[in-house]
Amino acid sequence: MSWDAPRVRNSLDAPVANESPYAVIATTAPYSRADAVKLIRPRSWPRDAVRKYFRCQARREYEAAQQLAAWGIPSIPVHGWGVALAPRARYESMLLMTYQPGCQNARRYLEAQPDSVTQWRLLEAIAADVAAIYARGYHHNDCHLGNVLVDGTGNRTWIDNELRLIRNVKQLAHRFEQTLILLDRSLKQAVPAAMKQAFQARCRELLRQTQTGSR
Ligand SMILES: Nc1ncnc2c1ncn2[C@@H]1O[C@H](COP(=O)(O)OP(=O)(O)OP(=O)(O)O)[C@@H](O)[C@H]1O
Ligand SMILES: [Mg+2]
Repeated sequence: MSWDAPRVRNSLDAPVANESPYAVIATTAPYSRADAVKLIRPRSWPRDAVRKYFRCQARREYEAAQQLAAWGIPSIPVHGWGVALAPRARYESMLLMTYQPGCQNARRYLEAQPDSVTQWRLLEAIAADVAAIYARGYHHNDCHLGNVLVDGTGNRTWIDNELRLIRNVKQLAHRFEQTLILLDRSLKQAVPAAMKQAFQARCRELLRQTQTGSR
């Protein structure tokens, strides 16, 4: 497979579903309607150019998605990853995954959702996911509502995952607080301020409960 997005489009007839500064998501239809490839650009030079030979971003995402699924957290089904061996390749790596059509990210879903019971149901499920990750001693590197896809029936799927085991308890608690800030920011004004506060409180409460329960 080519590493170059336009050539992916030409050789595979793969339409680009999303393009952001660091990634191109192309669906590999018509060969497989369900699947997508994420072509990942290096974010920082020379860090990523070196790190990719050990654990490229696609591999980190692949492993995290599998780990989340093993914990029962709904995450995008992943099928494989690849790395570009050339040091200055435009795309450092690629992730093969299932494409989930008809979804929007959790913030947009919440914004468009007038029913507060439905809004809270989703937020509570996300809080449980977040608590479950941190209770196991892991930090999620990009834990925000833009990385949760929600389908028409309100089912969530975590995408763009990266997990890091943090052995130091104080550091983990600090990371958890940073994640709560990131989640809060990514909510913007999608739900009332009181619900934003309740969401943070629920994340903390669930983490406490999970930690106590697992002792
Ligand atoms: N498997 C998928 N199915 C459907 N849409 C997807 C899928 N993967 C990614 N997307 C869409 O592409 C967008 C960008 O994907 P992703 O978050 O993986 O890339 P990114 O470059 O890390 O983006 P960002 O920096 O904006 O977080 C997502 O917000 C989502 O809208
Ligand atoms: Mg993302």
